Amino acid sequence: MRLDYLTIFPDFFGPLELSLPGKAAASGLLDVHVHDLRTWTHDRHRTVDDTPYGGGAGMVMKPEPFGEAFEALGIGAGDTIVFTTPSGERFDQRLAEELATRERIVFACGRYEGIDQRVIDHAREVAEVRELSLGDYVLNGGEVAALAVTEAVVRLLPGFMGNAESLVEESHGASGLLEYPVYTKPRTWQGREVPDVLLSGDHGRIAAWREDQARRRTARRRPDLLHPSVLDDGTPIVRAVPGDAGELLTLQRACWVQEALDNDTLDIPALHESLDDVVAWMQEWDTWVVRRAGRLVGAVRGKMEGDAWDIGRIMVAPDLQGSGLGRALLDHIQAVAPEQATSYLLFTGEGSARNRRMYRKAGFRLRADLPAPPHAVVLTKPRR
Ligand code: ADE
Repeated sequence: MRLDYLTIFPDFFGPLELSLPGKAAASGLLDVHVHDLRTWTHDRHRTVDDTPYGGGAGMVMKPEPFGEAFEALGIGAGDTIVFTTPSGERFDQRLAEELATRERIVFACGRYEGIDQRVIDHAREVAEVRELSLGDYVLNGGEVAALAVTEAVVRLLPGFMGNAESLVEESHGASGLLEYPVYTKPRTWQGREVPDVLLSGDHGRIAAWREDQARRRTARRRPDLLHPSVLDDGTPIVRAVPGDAGELLTLQRACWVQEALDNDTLDIPALHESLDDVVAWMQEWDTWVVRRAGRLVGAVRGKMEGDAWDIGRIMVAPDLQGSGLGRALLDHIQAVAPEQATSYLLFTGEGSARNRRMYRKAGFRLRADLPAPPHAVVLTKPRR
């Protein structure tokens, strides 16, 4: 596999010579080339960035150096260009496996506010393009991300790992679970023992113990891996974005008008919230939404309250109530509770019999001992 890096900080890629990819390069499995993007500048200052059209903060990477670099490096059909950017698709083990099948990957590392969009559009015409993000945080540039992607991909190349079996059982491997805890000698360390089962020599029991540990660990740390956030028909439940506020307000009004009619009262605070109120609570709550045919038809939110995961605003468009969407939202918000949550907590209208039935079925119990707002009740459920 050939790897090219286009960067204004070639020194960032020094570690490639030290670490595992370095060994692969020495053995001929990898052919690594690091390029200083400023090679393809022509002014005295070797400028690679400029101010954004349309205004705004920061600088944008200019198109010409990238364009010339692609040409000079002979990039063409069959090659893959990876742009590392926080606005890319999330890089994961599946993508690493896919990229490990490529002959040549060119990493274009962005800095500042990003790369002129025409570079990416142009790249798509000459090669396969992937825009990849390491995760939901912002690095100063794409170099560290390019190194991380490299390491994840290269270790999957046939002949790279001494022990191919270690690829099978690791986290994010075929099982879909996080890896179980591992131990080595000495048997006792600082008064802590290795679990007996691992010393039993009983391979069946050891495998069962490891599977159980992997499951528990995954449920606690990454419940999203156990409960993919999709409805039965494949519709995704996704995190709300600020632009959803208006539709959330509409959905909220639709839901609580229904509630008001059912209970013959207008004394429902959520019915009287403004767009500003919704924008404000969205900043505080982890909010998830469902769209059907583009329309926002369901939502739910959660936030930590002491040790409890406070669940609220389970909203389903009135025409879809009774379809199971509310229960799916309830299951989802429990599944995404942070690891430290030890219980779930929710408030519901005293008179909303249907909701109370759904919560009861889902394992929530009435807590008359806890304070509740007027006309509401508190329900809790311990976390498994
Ligand atoms: N560049 C800056 N932040 C990044 C991120 N999260 N992933 C990939 N490239 C980045």
